[in-house]
Amino acid sequence: MSRKMKNKVITNLLIERIASEGKCVGHHEGKVVFVSNVAPGDVVDVRITKGKSSFMEGEAIRFHEFSKDRIEPFCSHFGTCGGCKWQHINYDLQKTYKRQQVLDQFQRIAKVPIPEVAPILGSEKTQYYRNKLDFTFSNKKWLTLDQIRSEEEFDRNALGFHIPKMFDKIIDIEHCYLQGGISNEVRNSLREFALENKLSFYDIREQVGLLRNLIIRTTSTNQTMVIVQFGENDQESIKLVMEFLRRQFPSITSLLYVINTKGNETFHDLELVTFSGLPYIEEEMEGLKFRIGPKSFYQTNSEQAYELYKVARDFAQLKGDEVVYDLYTGTGTIANFVAKQAKQVIGVEYVEAAIEDAKLNSQINGIENTLFYAGDMKDILNEEFISTHAKPDVIITDPPRAGMDEKVVQMLLRLEAPTIVYVSCNPATQARDLALLGEKYQVEKVQPVDMFPQTYHVENVVRLTLKS
Ligand SMILES: C[S@@+](CC[C@H](N)C(=O)[O-])C[C@H]1O[C@@H](n2cnc3c(N)ncnc32)[C@H](O)[C@@H]1O
Repeated sequence: MSRKMKNKVITNLLIERIASEGKCVGHHEGKVVFVSNVAPGDVVDVRITKGKSSFMEGEAIRFHEFSKDRIEPFCSHFGTCGGCKWQHINYDLQKTYKRQQVLDQFQRIAKVPIPEVAPILGSEKTQYYRNKLDFTFSNKKWLTLDQIRSEEEFDRNALGFHIPKMFDKIIDIEHCYLQGGISNEVRNSLREFALENKLSFYDIREQVGLLRNLIIRTTSTNQTMVIVQFGENDQESIKLVMEFLRRQFPSITSLLYVINTKGNETFHDLELVTFSGLPYIEEEMEGLKFRIGPKSFYQTNSEQAYELYKVARDFAQLKGDEVVYDLYTGTGTIANFVAKQAKQVIGVEYVEAAIEDAKLNSQINGIENTLFYAGDMKDILNEEFISTHAKPDVIITDPPRAGMDEKVVQMLLRLEAPTIVYVSCNPATQARDLALLGEKYQVEKVQPVDMFPQTYHVENVVRLTLKS
C-alpha cells in the first residue's frame, strides 16, 4: 500500500459479507476492504490501517447505518475482549456464515467436486459452553479511553483475558458468558481475596509478582479443576491462596497449583502440586469415562464434541472388522469412542503425555483393541510403521489448525485406505489438503459443526472415499 493510503478514511462503505477469519468485506474503487467488528449490512466510515495492491484492511470509525441482522451483544466486555466477536450477529446468521465459510474455502482452495454441504450442526448452548478458561493476573489493567481521559486514579490490578494483540494488557473480567458452573465466582472471589490481602499481581514485563494465571476446567459431570500459577515461590502466600479456595469452594474436586518463574505461561514442563482433591477430573460420553489431567487436552465444548465425534463415527461407517488409524489422536478420545465398532484402532499423536492419557483412557474403560504411539506424524507414519501394523481400512484424521504436513498427505495417498474421515478446525487448510487428496479421493459428505458460538470458528467433517 502506498503510504498515502494509510490512515485514509473511506466514507459510507457498505459491508457486504463475511469473509474468512471473521472479518467482513466491502468494496472501494474495485478493491476489497476487510473490516473487523462490523456486520454485513452496516454502512461505515473506515480508516485504512493496512493494504496491498489488491486489498485493504481498516477499522470502522463511524457507523451511518446498522445492519438489520444486528442484535444487542449480551456481554458488557463485548468489543474490548477478543473472546466472542460475533455476539452482535444473531445465531442463525452466525451458522449461515460459518457454513458459507466452508463452501467458500472449498471452492476457492480445494477446487474438487463437492456434494451439497449439509446444514451446520448448531450448538444447543450458545453461552456457557466452554469447559476450560484461562485467566491472567496482571498489574497492567486495560483502561478504556474514557477512563484514561477522566484522569481518575484506577487500581491497575486485573484478572481476566489478554486484549487482542496486546500481550501485556489484561481486561478485568466481571462476568464471562463462556463458562458455567462456579467459574465466575471462583475468578471474582480470588481477585477480591488477593486485593484484600495485598498479594501482588504479575508484571509480565518485569516478570515479577505472586499471582500469575488461573485455569478453571469444568465437566458435564459437575467436577471442577482449578489450577493457580504462581510467579514466585512464596510458600506462605501460596498456602493462603490455596486454603482460601479450598475453604470457599468445597465443590472444587481437583485443586492444584504450579510455580512458574519461566518467561511464558505454559506449564507442560513443570511439576504441578495437587493441593486438595484428585489430580484429574473425568468427563463422560456414552458411558465412557475420559480422565483429564491438568496437562491434558480435551475438546473445549464437551456437548458439541460428542456431536462431532458422532458425525466422525457415522462417516467412518464401521462394521466391526476394520483397522482404524486415528491420526492426531490427542488423548485418544476419538480412538476410544469408535473402538467398540472396530477390530483395532491405532492412535498417533506427538505429545507423549497425551498418549499416556489415551492409554489410560482405554484401560479405565476396559478397551483392549487400541494401540497408541507418540511421535511427529510426518516421521512416525512411515513405511516401517505401515509394515509393522495392519493397513488401515479407515483413517480418521483431526490435525491442528495448520492442517496436515504434505509428507503426511502423500503417505495417505500411498496407503489408499478405502475411507478417510477428515475432521478439521480450519476449513482453509482442510481445503488445501483435499486438493492434494483429490488425486485419489472423492469427497462424499461434508458436515460443518459449530463448536464455538459467538465466534467465527467452524469445525468441519469430510468423508472421502477412494476413487474406483
Ligand atoms: C485438533 S487436536 C485433535 C485432538 C483429538 N482428536 C480430540 O478430539 O481430542 C490436534 C492434535 O494434533 C496434535 N499434533 C499437532 N501437530 C502434530 C504433529 N506434527 N504430529 C503429531 N501430532 C500432532 C496436537 O498435539 C493435538 O493433540
